[in-house]
Amino acid sequence: MADSFDVIVVGGGPGGYNTAIRAGQLGLKAACIDKRGAFGGTCLNIGCIPSKALLHASERFHEARHDFAGLGIKTDVALDLPAMMARKDKVVGELTKGVEYLLKKNKVEAIVGEARIAAPGTVELKGKDGSRTLTAKNIVIATGSDVAKLPGVTIDEKQIVSSTGAIALKEVPKRLLVVGAGVIGLELGSVWRRLGSEVAVVEFLDRITPGMDGEIGKAFQRILTKQGFSFQLSTKVVGVEKSKNGLKVTVEPAAGGDKSVIETDIMLVAIGRVPYTAGLGLEGVGVALDKRGRVITDNHYRTNVPGIFAIGDCREGAMLAHKAEDEAVAVAEIIAGKAGHVNYDAIPSVVYTFPEVASVGKTEEDLKAAGVTYKIGKFAFTANARAKTIAATEGMVKIIADAATDKVLGCHIVGPEAGNLIAEVVLAMEFGASSEDIARTCHSHPTLTEAVRQAAMGVEGWTMQS
Ligand code: FAD
Ligand code: NAI
Repeated sequence: MADSFDVIVVGGGPGGYNTAIRAGQLGLKAACIDKRGAFGGTCLNIGCIPSKALLHASERFHEARHDFAGLGIKTDVALDLPAMMARKDKVVGELTKGVEYLLKKNKVEAIVGEARIAAPGTVELKGKDGSRTLTAKNIVIATGSDVAKLPGVTIDEKQIVSSTGAIALKEVPKRLLVVGAGVIGLELGSVWRRLGSEVAVVEFLDRITPGMDGEIGKAFQRILTKQGFSFQLSTKVVGVEKSKNGLKVTVEPAAGGDKSVIETDIMLVAIGRVPYTAGLGLEGVGVALDKRGRVITDNHYRTNVPGIFAIGDCREGAMLAHKAEDEAVAVAEIIAGKAGHVNYDAIPSVVYTFPEVASVGKTEEDLKAAGVTYKIGKFAFTANARAKTIAATEGMVKIIADAATDKVLGCHIVGPEAGNLIAEVVLAMEFGASSEDIARTCHSHPTLTEAVRQAAMGVEGWTMQS
């Protein structure tokens, strides 16, 4: 006999597990299925968490080696890469176990196995203990995304790696070539640069981090170049040859032209991610996908097949864990008959390099293209007292507000703790605040948050601390 549920969630990542937990909290009988063997999806197992554990450790290593002397601390620092990797794995293990605990606590049946939607309301499960048929009134597809492949290049996760291989290298490569100057390339490039690699980046477009505010992107590139990154923009990889001494990577201008060869030890392919729905049986049940393979939904996350929903990386929008989590809460509430909703104008994004880069809302380029008139306030961290005391003065805060109403439309920060600083502006935007609201809010001294306030004051031209 089939096991029957109110909701079956396929995928145990931030989208899937949060859907199942919220459904459980709302009194629905929920199951969450993942084929990986550990819950937490890409984010906890091979994404956000292991990369941030390595970013933290490599930053401390670099700091101890290069910056402590300037603080008056004498050190004799050596790298223990196996121990650094073991700590990363421990953090991942503890967090994935934590998800299992949360699922159990909220009475969700957590199932390890591969799911296929056999018909609306029916999921066939292949697990290590055999096959099972589950039925449910509602099925939520939360199967996430996978690495985008570079045509003609085979990822072996040893010499030619994706992010998955790049967080598990056994030794520090002398030379690392990163293909794609996006979030993964720059975060993981930073890890290995700090641990001693020469890092070269090849990017197809004429700028790094496309989509980021242009001025902030340029400042970010200058900072990374000072850290030793080399960038070859408007360039594409057209072939790779393995040799005894490493890899010979052939590149040419993005628009075509003369080829040249870059020699490297490891090549990281980080040219984006693609939605993952392979083997799910979507064709059979008639769930529609768009041209990029994303599951098409309406703004209640309903696909074209009644009773089947989709959230997270496998549908449109930013491929971010917190976007998947917010959609998870919304879809569970919608299924429970409540009014779940996500405000896509106030979803932050953060690049966890040093310094960090954080953004929310519109960029100057977005507003110019939309013909919206705006005002800008900026504040450089060189003029922030706390930034001076912690020796981290590179970067700035930029706040953009509507010229007519003063409503905050966007904020872009490159600087220390940018990922934490942006939260204040996200909250302000969620409440529809003006730049004056931020400017007239008392901020503790001396803190980095004062740079946000000063940028907000700058929108009306009354910045004080510079
Ligand atoms: P996933 O987390 O991809 O989960 C989907 C799950 O579904 C997988 O575990 C998969 O095994 C399972 N699955 C698929 N098909 C089936 C099936 N048929 N049956 C059973 N199970 C199935 N985002 C951030 O916000 N911050 C970060 O710092 C960040 N860092 C990242 C670093 C890296 C290196 C990478 C690769 C990604 C990073 N991301 C980050 C992105 C983040 O990981 C994703 O946006 C997030 O995991 C998406 O969640 P999801 O639930 O939609 O999908
Ligand atoms: P990305 O979309 O951020 O960057 C890919 C880069 O590769 C772009 O600059 C693009 O122009 C370039 N590119 C594409 N094709 C190319 C080619 N053939 N040759 C050279 N360059 C090429 O994708 P990335 O870095 O792979 O990350 C995937 C997703 O994972 C991101 O979109 C992000 O949503 C998520 N992520 C989020 C993180 C965070 O929030 N801190 C960290 C890591 C990943």
